[in-house]
Amino acid sequence: MKKIAFIGSGTMGTALATAACKGVDPSEVVVTDFVQEKGKELADRLGCRFVPTNTEAVKAAHYVVFCVKPQFLKGVLEEVKPAFEACAAAGEETIIVSIVAGVEVSTYVKELELEGKNAPVIRILPNTACLIGKGFTLIEQGESYTKEQEDEFRYIMRESGGFDSLPPSQFVAGTVLTSTSPAFIAMFANSLADGGVYNGLLRPQARRYALEGILGTVQLLLQSDKHLEGLKDDVCSPAGPAMIGVKTLEDTGFRSSVISAVADAYKRFEEIGRLK
Ligand SMILES: NC(=O)c1ccc[n+]([C@@H]2O[C@H](COP(=O)([O-])OP(=O)(O)OC[C@H]3O[C@@H](n4cnc5c(N)ncnc54)[C@H](OP(=O)(O)O)[C@@H]3O)[C@@H](O)[C@H]2O)c1
Repeated sequence: MKKIAFIGSGTMGTALATAACKGVDPSEVVVTDFVQEKGKELADRLGCRFVPTNTEAVKAAHYVVFCVKPQFLKGVLEEVKPAFEACAAAGEETIIVSIVAGVEVSTYVKELELEGKNAPVIRILPNTACLIGKGFTLIEQGESYTKEQEDEFRYIMRESGGFDSLPPSQFVAGTVLTSTSPAFIAMFANSLADGGVYNGLLRPQARRYALEGILGTVQLLLQSDKHLEGLKDDVCSPAGPAMIGVKTLEDTGFRSSVISAVADAYKRFEEIGRLK
């Protein structure tokens, strides 16, 4: 198995390196971080290799996953550019993997001067549930990498959760949905729990029942191709409590709030991309 390196051992670097160490031998996984203690601590915990610089991470790996915040990416690319050039000069192939939200493949091509070179760049967007191996990662379809390289990357990262690939024209819409929905669902879950507390439940029970309700519903919905709201129709008996609640949600703009939240998040995603 080829080595994979993670530049940045923060939330996502940790989640993805953890998944990689479950999927392949940890000796094949390399981590690094600006704050060395953080990278070392992660490597010790996972039994993988820590290297003190980003340059060494690039030189040590076949797949290099950039897991830094967007505002630090250009600095990191400037730092590792000579390492990419040295690998290319030595005939070693390095596959770039980007998880950086809003940053397009062209940024890597421009900053690392890869134009016209055989330099695979795979743009992905994982979501927070990768932390527990239940994530969903979208891969932007591209011509710079082969199906074998994508398959191998998916294989290495299979313990992070599911994958799907989308054409570039749909990638942002897909990633907005998978990356922002955890925030919206957490708010919805807490609102349900608040409703339970309002009706007299203790907070721990309200929290648990709200989450169990969401979990069971999602599992049920995933098992069928039926329209999502077919389940709503099944649950709402004539003049029953669920139907009364549905009307309240409609009266208070529930659907249009959620649609607007996703649409606004999309706009912001594009805005962030333009700032780079
Ligand atoms: N969080 C999510 O749910 C999520 C989902 C999809 C994609 N993403 C993308 O994932 C990327 C990372 O997000 P995150 O939430 O993991 O951020 P994070 O927790 O801040 O992690 C970034 C890590 O990179 C380190 N770092 C900063 N500058 C560095 C440098 N020059 N060299 C090496 N390491 C450096 C940071 O170190 P210090 O902070 O210790 O200085 C930090 O440990 C972002 O680009 C984001 O768009 C995040």
